[in-house]
Amino acid sequence: MIVTSDEILKGERVYFTRLQFENIYKHFEWNNDPELNHLDSELPYSEEPLGDFKKRFEQLVFDPNPNSIDFEIHADDGKLIGVAFISAISEHNSHATIGITIGDRDYWGKGYGRDALTVLLDHCFEDLSLHRVAAETFEFNDAWRRLVRWAGFEREGLYAEYVRRGDKYFDKEVYGLLEGAYRYRKLHAMAGL
Ligand SMILES: CC(C)(COP(=O)(O)OP(=O)(O)OC[C@H]1O[C@@H](n2cnc3c(N)ncnc32)[C@H](O)[C@@H]1OP(=O)(O)O)[C@@H](O)C(=O)NCCC(=O)NCCS
Repeated sequence: MIVTSDEILKGERVYFTRLQFENIYKHFEWNNDPELNHLDSELPYSEEPLGDFKKRFEQLVFDPNPNSIDFEIHADDGKLIGVAFISAISEHNSHATIGITIGDRDYWGKGYGRDALTVLLDHCFEDLSLHRVAAETFEFNDAWRRLVRWAGFEREGLYAEYVRRGDKYFDKEVYGLLEGAYRYRKLHAMAGL
């Protein structure tokens, strides 16, 4: 595992850094990727000019919203492969919403998402002391749904026919993971159960 001075969170196969401005072109590429947009955005795809993206990205890097944290996900070979976020952080209620995008398709389906989610949840519960973490998925996003269920999230409800793709509507599912369930699962994993 390559360790850089920017590394702030470390898993078995990935490490996280904060967003780095020098990587803007990779983020711009993923931002303008129609397939990624289909899987993780409520907004219809439209190509964003580099100038507009640069303004938004500068804000995310240099003047981030205090209620959100954005990370870069790097594989163990050092390559930048995606992003992870913790958003809508409520200090008072100790809850937040998370998401992960492995932007580099060469790294899909190989366990990097699973490791990234483990790192993200450890940070949420161990470092940020959250009580509850939420995740949302569209009904057609099998990989993300499988991943959050694997991590112990329970489906709490859905927004029926919430998102439009072409002339069809699809549900948005809401998942939640409480601290107690996270700790119970960790203990079982450590005990090899
Ligand atoms: C969702 C995502 C993060 C999963 O990461 P990944 O590294 O590809 O997934 P992993 O290899 O860790 O596998 C995690 C689970 O997803 C399943 N999975 C992976 N790719 C899949 C696919 N194309 N179709 C169905 N299931 C898939 C795996 O089988 C595994 O489930 P299992 O444990 O029940 O077998 C990644 O595919 C991605 O970034 N997709 C695009 C963006 C997105 O949808 N983000 C989520 C919303 S914020």
